[in-house]
Amino acid sequence: MNKRLVSGIQPTGTIHIGNYLGAIKQWAELQHDYDSYFFIVDYHALTQRPSAKDLEQARLSTAAMLVACGIDPKSSAVFFQSDVPEHTELAWLLMSMTSVGALSRMTQYKEKSDRHGQNAGLFTYPVLMAADILLYKPEVVPVGEDQVQHLELTRDIVETFNNLYGQTLVQPKPLLNKAARVMALNDPSKKMSKSVPGSAITLLDDPDTVESTLKRAVTDSDPNAGTMSPGVANLFLLLENFSSPETVIQFQKQHKDGSLRYAELKEQLIEDINAFLSPVQKTYHSLMNNPEHIRSMLETGAKKARPIAQQTVSDVKKALGLS
Ligand code: ADP
Ligand code: TRP
Repeated sequence: MNKRLVSGIQPTGTIHIGNYLGAIKQWAELQHDYDSYFFIVDYHALTQRPSAKDLEQARLSTAAMLVACGIDPKSSAVFFQSDVPEHTELAWLLMSMTSVGALSRMTQYKEKSDRHGQNAGLFTYPVLMAADILLYKPEVVPVGEDQVQHLELTRDIVETFNNLYGQTLVQPKPLLNKAARVMALNDPSKKMSKSVPGSAITLLDDPDTVESTLKRAVTDSDPNAGTMSPGVANLFLLLENFSSPETVIQFQKQHKDGSLRYAELKEQLIEDINAFLSPVQKTYHSLMNNPEHIRSMLETGAKKARPIAQQTVSDVKKALGLS
């Protein structure tokens, strides 16, 4: 049996190129080397109190988008977190192994509670995330850099549990790629995020929206200053991911010899990002026309995940004296 890989994504808003480059692209590349489990964390999404209608739509749309981005449901399990009840069961079992001080230091909690207000779900979210991971005893967890802090907390929880109750849980490792942090196009000091308007290009943006978002992207006043400003470095990061290697070399050369023009760099990105998005959107829309097909794919994924999750919860309960 191959080593296991797990990761999750929230069904909130539309997936953007930061999520794609920081997480999903890597998932699609790694899925054939690992026994892979990708869940749509719908219980996590409740921390933002979405309307039932929005959540229902976002769950389905996120599943369709994962497949459109190259996740192959034939080899990887794709499923809703809420379809495998062991996620919440293990979260409770881990709750007492988790330090309140550590939870209050989580950057995502601080940022999201500023925006959505404080609620206990948001505060204890990392414990549910730890459970998401630990249920499957994975070898690797590919995530963007913003999730590393949650992975470290997961590792602390494992250590506390195993020290108190014996070797039961397996330490997971984060796996980061080069594009682990794509910055906001309108403010390169912040990460690109669904919840920051104007910061992202989403995978469902039409060509005109891509064009206007990129044209407004922050650069700096001197295209040929020796060092790259954060905004320009971010555009080069996109170029490395969406354009051909020859094109990247050509623009790097221009930057070095002082002939770079930002308008041309942006035009190139507009063309290449739209060329990437077009087939993704086509597949996405054809999947969304057949929701029953998506639901059946998700049920197949959950069926594969459940026995593994059940085994871990059973082991944990036994270690705790609950069996
Ligand atoms: P958002 O912050 O936009 O709400 P999520 O929290 O749903 O995104 O993140 C989903 C995945 O995408 C996670 O693995 C996260 O690390 C990754 N990710 C999110 N934003 C970025 C970014 N700007 N750059 C790289 N990866 C990102
Ligand atoms: N917390 C992650 C995010 O905001 C999503 C997530 C939930 C996750 N559970 C996970 C990622 C388990 C990796 C593994 O993006």
